[in-house]
Amino acid sequence: MSFEMEGPLPGATFGGRVRLAHGGGAEAVVAAAEADPAALPQALAAAQGLLLLTGMQAIAEAPELLLRLSRRFGPEVEDYRRTLTPVNQIHASVPEILVVSNTPPVDRQPPKLPDPPLTEDGRLPTRFPHRRGWHTDQSYRRPPPDISLFLGVIPVPKGQGQTLFADGAAAYDALAPTAKARIEGLEGLHAKARTGRSHDQVLAGDPVQPLAPHERSQRQPVVRVHPVTGRRALYLCEFGQMDWLEGPLVGMEPGPHGDGARLLFELMSHLTRPEFVYVHEWDGGDLLIWDNRCLMHAATWYDAAKEKRLMWRTTVSGNPGAIYARERKSWIPERAGELAAAEDGS
Ligand SMILES: [Fe+2]
Repeated sequence: MSFEMEGPLPGATFGGRVRLAHGGGAEAVVAAAEADPAALPQALAAAQGLLLLTGMQAIAEAPELLLRLSRRFGPEVEDYRRTLTPVNQIHASVPEILVVSNTPPVDRQPPKLPDPPLTEDGRLPTRFPHRRGWHTDQSYRRPPPDISLFLGVIPVPKGQGQTLFADGAAAYDALAPTAKARIEGLEGLHAKARTGRSHDQVLAGDPVQPLAPHERSQRQPVVRVHPVTGRRALYLCEFGQMDWLEGPLVGMEPGPHGDGARLLFELMSHLTRPEFVYVHEWDGGDLLIWDNRCLMHAATWYDAAKEKRLMWRTTVSGNPGAIYARERKSWIPERAGELAAAEDGS
C-alpha cells in the first residue's frame, strides 16, 4: 500500500497521521489516492474518523487538488454556489471550496474566549459547558454531510485557533447501559445559525422568525449508526446549532430550562470529557479530514486583531446511512421561485 498511518494522534485515543510511504507532497498524495481509491477512506474508518496529512501547502497554489482529494471520500462534493452560501465565502476558481478567514472578503470572526480563558490548572478549556461551540457540520440539513476536509492555508500561531475533536463513538460506548437505554430512539432538533433558535436568542426572548420550509430545523438521531463501520455514536450539537425553541430534544420539555436541555447538557459534558478529545494545533499545510457522522468538533479563539487566518474547507456527502434513504435535500427550496428569492438574500 502506498500510504502509511501512524496513530492515535498526540494526546488522543483516536485519529491517525497519514503519509506516503516514499514521501511526496500534495500532488503525489492526490495521485496515490486516485490510484488506490479505497486507501484513504479505509484509513479514515480505521482512525475512527480523523486523518491528518501534513505538508500539503502546494494545494494553496493548486486548489483543484483539494477537490480531487475530496472526491475520494464520497459521491458528492458540495458546490457552494448551489447551496445558498454567501458568495464572499466561496473560493473564486473552485466553488467547492468554502473560505474560512478573518480577512476580506470573508471577514469571519473567531469564537469568543471561554470564561475564564483557561482551566483551573492553566490549560485550554475543551469540556462543555466551559468550552462552547461544539457541533457537527451542517447537522441542520437532512441528509447531513459525511466528511469535511479542512486545509490550513494560513493558520494562526500555535496556542490559539485550534480545532478540537470529540469521539462520539467512544463516548457512546462509555455510557452506562441505563443511559444508553434512555437515549435509544431519541432525536435532536438541529437549527441553522441566524434562524432565531440558538440558545442565546431564545434565552433573550428574540421574536420568533417565520421560516421557509428549507430553513426549518431538522431532526437527527441522538445515537447515529455509522454506515461504514456500524458503530453507534453520539450525534449532537449545543448552543448555536440546536433548536432551543422547540427542542433541543424531540418529545422532551423544550427550551433552555427544560428537561431536554438538562439531558443535552449531561450528554455534551460527557462527550467532551478529556479522554474523548483531541486538540489540533495547526501548522501551515496541515490538512484535517474528519467524519461528521461520528465526531463533533469546535473552533477556538484567536487574536483576530493581530493574526490573519485563512482556511479552506470542502464538504462531502452521499453516504449518510439507511435512515436517510431517498430523502430530498431539506435545505434546497422546492420551487424555483423560492430559490431565486433565497439567492437574492430576501
Ligand atoms: Fe464546523
